[in-house]
Amino acid sequence: IFSAIPMAPRDPILGITEAFHADPNPHKINLGVGVYYDDNGKVPLLKCVLEAERQMTAQGSPHTYLPIDGLAMYDSAVQKLVFGEDNIALQEKRVATVQSIGGTGALKIGADFLKRFSSNSQVWISDPSWENHRALFEAAGFKVNTYPYYDSVNRGVDFAGMISTLKSLPARSVVVLHACCHNPTGADLSDAQWDEVIEVVQDNKLIPFLDMAYQGFSEGIDSDGKIVRRFARLYSPVLVSSSFSKSFSLYGERVGAFSIVTGNADEAARTLSQLKRIIRTNYSNPPIYGAKIVGTVLNNPELHKMWENELTGMRVRIHEMRHKLVDELNAKSNGQDFSFIIHQNGMFSYSGLTPEQVEKLRKDYSVYIVSTGRICVAALNSHNLDYVANAIAKVL
Ligand code: LMR
Repeated sequence: IFSAIPMAPRDPILGITEAFHADPNPHKINLGVGVYYDDNGKVPLLKCVLEAERQMTAQGSPHTYLPIDGLAMYDSAVQKLVFGEDNIALQEKRVATVQSIGGTGALKIGADFLKRFSSNSQVWISDPSWENHRALFEAAGFKVNTYPYYDSVNRGVDFAGMISTLKSLPARSVVVLHACCHNPTGADLSDAQWDEVIEVVQDNKLIPFLDMAYQGFSEGIDSDGKIVRRFARLYSPVLVSSSFSKSFSLYGERVGAFSIVTGNADEAARTLSQLKRIIRTNYSNPPIYGAKIVGTVLNNPELHKMWENELTGMRVRIHEMRHKLVDELNAKSNGQDFSFIIHQNGMFSYSGLTPEQVEKLRKDYSVYIVSTGRICVAALNSHNLDYVANAIAKVL
């Protein structure tokens, strides 16, 4: 068996972290993976998380199995956060939600579910999209296509291209949409553009799969959640993957959720039973610790408020870094205008750097970014920003 096994390529994002760790340069900077660091370059331990952990330790609960679909108080808190407490779909009990192993695990549960119940569908992802989208849906057995998304000349969304492709898709095509903070470009649709997308999804009976890994990193929890909430009010099926990796700084605990909006409570119950089968045959049931932290915070009004304030702090710091990066790059790069970086949302900036420039950044400066030119702005800080801006200006 082993003689026929070829070497697989490194992961385009996590492989960068591997290369970064192997680099002996003490000045190395990792702007590859989507992780928020504070101004001292540390992954923050949020105060609300620490307080939830303190309460959990004081309780001293045993490490028993969770139900297959996860911690009930977590699942219901996720529903309220993602769909909005007063959403008609929740009131009518037609949303099924299961705890997942991060946002990636949520996507895989959804992909496996679709393969079982809509096996002839094809999947459409944005061009470009998060690198793992294609790999994940292909691994679930789908043919994966792209719809136009980013216009690199105007550094914004190619909406005409996107909508005309969506209009041409047959019923039951699965369309993966980024609910907010598009990864990797940071270019989001306007409300009016979302109106058109929702109309096409309805008219063509498409299957929208909304990926929301960055709720809270553009404008705030409610504002960033509004597209998911609108879809859920108007349409079914709607599939949603969500994650607390970034918003709770709980990366290694793998805390996410998969939700599906169905047409009525009976459909939701039958769907949930199938999601549980998918989970049981993959990893049996999810881990407790991270979900308990998130559930404890979201179900306690004081801790919930503390969390939203801390999330606001992360969002504001990223905005500051965007502004500083633009100032530095504009000053250092002979008249090129980088102000587009300010208008991008979320953790990333799609910088426009070519693969060759990215390679030079790594080789000559030990600055690591994704080969597509995606920079994690959330890893910049007041100590490394100058070095990064200089390095970028040099490779341009
Ligand atoms: C990213 O895009 O960098 C993050 O979502 C982390 C990951 O798993 O790729």
